[in-house]
Amino acid sequence: MIVTTAALYKIAYRKFAIGAYNINNAEQAVGLFRGCLDSKAPFIIQLSKGARAYTHKKIIEAIIRACDEIYPEAIFAVHLDHGDEETCYDCIDSGFYSSVMIDASHHPFEENVAITKRVVDRAHAKGVSVEAELGMLGGVEEDIVVEEGNACLTNPDEAAEFIQRTGCDALAAAIGTSHGAYKFKGRQSLHFNVIEEINKRIPGIPIVMHGSSSVPAEEVCRINAAGGQLDPSACGVDENEYLPAAKLGVTKVNIDTDGRLVWTRVHREFFRDKPSEFDFRPPGKIFMNEYAAFISHKNTKLGSAGTLDEVRKGLGS
Ligand code: G3H
Ligand code: 13P
Ligand code: ZN
Repeated sequence: MIVTTAALYKIAYRKFAIGAYNINNAEQAVGLFRGCLDSKAPFIIQLSKGARAYTHKKIIEAIIRACDEIYPEAIFAVHLDHGDEETCYDCIDSGFYSSVMIDASHHPFEENVAITKRVVDRAHAKGVSVEAELGMLGGVEEDIVVEEGNACLTNPDEAAEFIQRTGCDALAAAIGTSHGAYKFKGRQSLHFNVIEEINKRIPGIPIVMHGSSSVPAEEVCRINAAGGQLDPSACGVDENEYLPAAKLGVTKVNIDTDGRLVWTRVHREFFRDKPSEFDFRPPGKIFMNEYAAFISHKNTKLGSAGTLDEVRKGLGS
């Protein structure tokens, strides 16, 4: 059942985080639905511009509709990840999306406010909620002194003004993470002090954590042992920090890279071990099972596992 992102946020806020998983194809969709049902968790499916263009937006949307029919117990929202203004309007007008993200954080503050406000007005008129971004993800290196490092992070005072002026429903905040497989050097972690300050300034507004993959060392090691050449210093967010962050208002946790690592490991190992094989379905089946197990594990770490009955009750269905 497709629900609004706002309804999921209301139930989860400061209790647990909802996994927002990027998908691009049928195998990921099936693994995602199975993994969320196995772990009894609500979830957010997010489609990037790249995902909508990979085959065709209508194809990935049809796959999601089919999964909704095949897995009627599933409770999820559909979200546009990292949208520009034009793509946000396309998704809002389609009637299929529960929420959109307008990513205008690379613009100066005033321009970010103006763009976000335009999207919010158009989205709210159609009952779609909006995630907007403030601050710069990444760029926080270990050897940079705290003051300099914090300059890249979301400023809690600006966050309050941004929410008040734009009316957006969720805030993607820079709290120490970055996209991809190379996030931290040495013993870095999330900036819990910044999360806490943001939450104090914008109580009730869900914080979104981008760049939340954990990039497990074992996964990187297996990929490299099967012919990959990932930098072994690849490193991500400690999964044990998801739930403490959720208790401070981080309600949506975006995960993409870790799922790509599962795909790469499964396919590299399969074709390494069966070099004469050329049917893609056997590794595809392994991938769906492994992806489902991966999603289930993530949901446990996010605290969303086992909440499906509570969510169903909360939604009044
Ligand atoms: O944050 C971006 C997501 O990982 C989506 O990546 O634009 O390559 O689909 P993509
Ligand atoms: P990762 O690259 O850490 O998986 O982050 C994904 C993301 O933030 C999608 O918006
Ligand atoms: Zn992101």
